[in-house]
Amino acid sequence: MTILITGATGNIGGELIQHLLRKNVPIRGLVRDLKKGAKLSEQDVELAQGDFSQPESLNVALQGIEKAFLVSSNLPNQVELECNFIEAAKYAGVKHIVKLSVMGAGELPSTFQKWHREIEVQLEQSGIAWTHLQPNMLMQNMRWFAETIAQNGAFYNCVGDAKISHVDARDVAAVAAVCLTEAGHENISYVLTGDKAITFNEVADILGKALGWSVNYVDLPPVDLKAARLANGEPEWYLDAELELCACWKQGAGSAVNDTIAQITNKKATSYEEFAQYYTQTILN
Ligand SMILES: NC(=O)c1ccc[n+]([C@@H]2O[C@H](COP(=O)([O-])OP(=O)(O)OC[C@H]3O[C@@H](n4cnc5c(N)ncnc54)[C@H](OP(=O)(O)O)[C@@H]3O)[C@@H](O)[C@H]2O)c1
Repeated sequence: MTILITGATGNIGGELIQHLLRKNVPIRGLVRDLKKGAKLSEQDVELAQGDFSQPESLNVALQGIEKAFLVSSNLPNQVELECNFIEAAKYAGVKHIVKLSVMGAGELPSTFQKWHREIEVQLEQSGIAWTHLQPNMLMQNMRWFAETIAQNGAFYNCVGDAKISHVDARDVAAVAAVCLTEAGHENISYVLTGDKAITFNEVADILGKALGWSVNYVDLPPVDLKAARLANGEPEWYLDAELELCACWKQGAGSAVNDTIAQITNKKATSYEEFAQYYTQTILN
């Protein structure tokens, strides 16, 4: 039974495809641009071209599909885009969707958490079996700072000394692979966290040790962080949404730790020390 992986070119969708290839599970990757999926074609992954903003483009991709992984980027029309996919999946007779959501969906007052909950509700009401994966902040976000870490040994945020249970995208993908290939995960939400909650100063120490040079976390007032990133070309709506979330983290909303990843995958969650080795060998190179 072929599983459709949306976001095949993305962080978690890409890792999920590698997990499912190792399990010899038939998969189809949804991509907007077939050229971006060239590396997957080299691995003999079947690709289908489709765009959530053009629902009719999803019909061919969904043919013969019973299970799907749903992810999209944070975009101003994310709710509409993901709901287009849910509608098309319902029409195509899909039986189970594993949706990438976010920790705090429906609980925190921040935009991304509200949007994800809206999509979760649509999925729950669709009649399709669902699994919501709600990861905390991804360790892989550190890729956004690869340049400043390499050049100045610094990265920037505005969460002060808040503790956050950062989670590795590869662990999230491993959980998705289990939920899509084994029974018993239908109609459940899983909050996914790392093995412990640490501050960004601790993250800086761990990265510094792995790199062999000093790395510093620079805590900025939100207004300064926003101005710097606006000047760097990032959209204002996105920065506002991210700063809302940072304010929640600063108050401790990202500090919860659980062992759901270990329970589902039978492998303990990747520690930040382990991620730091991977980061220095791959992302930073
Ligand atoms: N970063 C975190 O810390 C974190 C934590 C928890 C949850 N999340 C959630 O994770 C999700 C993914 O975040 P990300 O930005 O890191 O994503 P990402 O890995 O860059 O992947 C997003 C994927 O969605 C695809 N996509 C975007 N628009 C699409 C459309 N209109 N039709 C079909 N596919 C489309 C992209 O394809 P293209 O390659 O064609 O652009 C890409 O493959 C978000 O919903 C976010 O809220 C993130």
